[in-house]
Amino acid sequence: MGALVVLGLESSCDETSAAVVVLKEGHLSVRSCTTAAQDLLHEEYRGVVPEIASRAHLEAVIPTIRRALQEAAITPRELHGVAAASRPGLIGSLLVGSSAAKAFAWGRSLSFVGIDHVVAHLVATQLDTEAVEWPAVGLVASGGHTSLFAMRGPLDLDLIGATIDDAAGEAFDKAAAILNIGYPGGARLDELAESGDAQSIDFPVTALSGLDFSFSGIKTALSLAAKREAGRHKSADFAAAFRRAVVAQIVRNLARAIDERGARSCLVGGGVAANRLLRREAARVCDERGCALRLAPARWCTDNAAMIAGAGALRIARGERDPWDLAPQPLSSLARGPRGQRVKRA
Ligand code: KG4
Ligand code: ZN
Repeated sequence: MGALVVLGLESSCDETSAAVVVLKEGHLSVRSCTTAAQDLLHEEYRGVVPEIASRAHLEAVIPTIRRALQEAAITPRELHGVAAASRPGLIGSLLVGSSAAKAFAWGRSLSFVGIDHVVAHLVATQLDTEAVEWPAVGLVASGGHTSLFAMRGPLDLDLIGATIDDAAGEAFDKAAAILNIGYPGGARLDELAESGDAQSIDFPVTALSGLDFSFSGIKTALSLAAKREAGRHKSADFAAAFRRAVVAQIVRNLARAIDERGARSCLVGGGVAANRLLRREAARVCDERGCALRLAPARWCTDNAAMIAGAGALRIARGERDPWDLAPQPLSSLARGPRGQRVKRA
């Protein structure tokens, strides 16, 4: 097959993003990616307000698509398909992007595919770079997920570990709120932690059996320590000690998964994959094991449509397309059930 050109849309949370990606000889290259962020609209609430998010997506989606096509110098006639994030996420927000994608595809007789945003975070490690050696272990650490996958290919993956309470990004955001360092907090806490003393406060590293994660205990420990020892430490010390405990837990499970699965590569994506300490520590454990580390570059860690277009191109290349009545879903196809049971959804 020649080159496959795909338009991707991302609107699962608070970024409206459109991108054009080309799949050629197994290689994904990003032709354009343009993103309209909504941080300022949600800042005063210190969290994403779903109704505000979907209205902002509605205003931004068509201009964003237009800009992505322009920047890629691609006309709609040159496209082979359209992909949109269809799960997991805020239903109203997902509806805007996936409806726009369907309408665009329908009107031009193109294939439409709905993409699992969590799977796309791992495709983000495969954009504009060389082929991955399989099998691999994948880690997605974001605002909504902290999940480990055993992977035999980019779209062929099983969930082997997940958080039983907060996601890592959610924990970073809550910690930033406790330390009063602003919204969105994860990146700011990471920045502040660079100048703190991680050993000054001893937060416990949560240890569950198996490959699951838990971050709510560390968050409570921070909240108590911040009240009890406010005068004794700088906020940079709290940030550094908190980050150390969160990253230690993630990296311990990552190393365990690599060993158990005999992984040749390790793929790390999601907003928290931008964390400086996580990047350094993932490099260390992969180095020790001779495992090739594929960290998503910072610009593809946070939500973006390039990863959606990339995942879409891989699916369309396999001859897949989704029906026009595909409905957005709040949970990932690879998430646990409501009581934490392991289920695989259709
Ligand atoms: O993947 P993403 O953009 O959205 C979701 O799918 O959730 O991830 C956003 C999350 C937020 O919780 C944000 O605070 C966190 O990623 N984040 C970070 C860093 N940059 C973003 N957390 C820790 N360190 C960072 N440098
Ligand atoms: Zn995400």
